[in-house]
Amino acid sequence: MLIATTERLRIRDWSIDDAEAALDIHSRVEVVQWLGDGEPVLMKDLAEARERIGTWLVRDDPPAGFWAIEVADGGPLDGRTIGAVLLVPLPNGAGEIEIGWHLHPDAWGHGYAPEAARAILQRGFDGGLEEIHAVTHLTNERSMAVCSKIGMEHRGIVETWYDEPSQHFVTTRENWQSVLTRGQWSGGRNLD
Ligand SMILES: CC(C)(COP(=O)(O)OP(=O)(O)OC[C@H]1O[C@@H](n2cnc3c(N)ncnc32)[C@H](O)[C@@H]1OP(=O)(O)O)[C@@H](O)C(=O)NCCC(=O)NCCS
Repeated sequence: MLIATTERLRIRDWSIDDAEAALDIHSRVEVVQWLGDGEPVLMKDLAEARERIGTWLVRDDPPAGFWAIEVADGGPLDGRTIGAVLLVPLPNGAGEIEIGWHLHPDAWGHGYAPEAARAILQRGFDGGLEEIHAVTHLTNERSMAVCSKIGMEHRGIVETWYDEPSQHFVTTRENWQSVLTRGQWSGGRNLD
């Protein structure tokens, strides 16, 4: 299902046909090292990719979700599934929702993650969330840059949800409205 379109991207459900793309992303240490706690565990093969896609598809807790990002900008990556954007409950939490993102390195540095994230923040607030968190590894400068670009507020270092200390960012419905009002972003179209 198509979830949202932005100027350059389609955000949609994963498909079993994306297994090769998922494997190419999740078998790379330069991506996986920044996800979750502990030592990075790399995806091994297409069977594992298909199994993981199955778990991303069965969520039934809207507005949470785990979606694929496909490029639709007519450029060199056009039509390619480049990664994921997600809204999921934080582990060990009290229902707090975090936004997350990870892309194939071929797609880094084009502003695709902030573009997808803005559409998904909008979806989360439209879906009734009052605040959305982001949690990154302490030195994940690229991901922290994405948080700043989409107007999230840095709240410092926390040990609340993950085993290891993390950088914590938050945006509230009110803050997001003021980001939109200030014109920091005007693109993206939610399809629901
Ligand atoms: C984090 C990630 C999603 C960013 O996606 P992206 O679409 O490349 O984001 P951007 O194009 O906005 O680039 C991020 C910004 O990081 C900054 N940046 C880039 N390289 C950097 C570096 N080596 N050190 C510090 N900052 C850096 C830049 O400000 C850049 O923005 P700019 O190009 O406009 O100056 C992508 O790098 C990724 O998938 N990383 C691996 C997985 C990951 O870390 N996921 C997040 C887990 S919390």
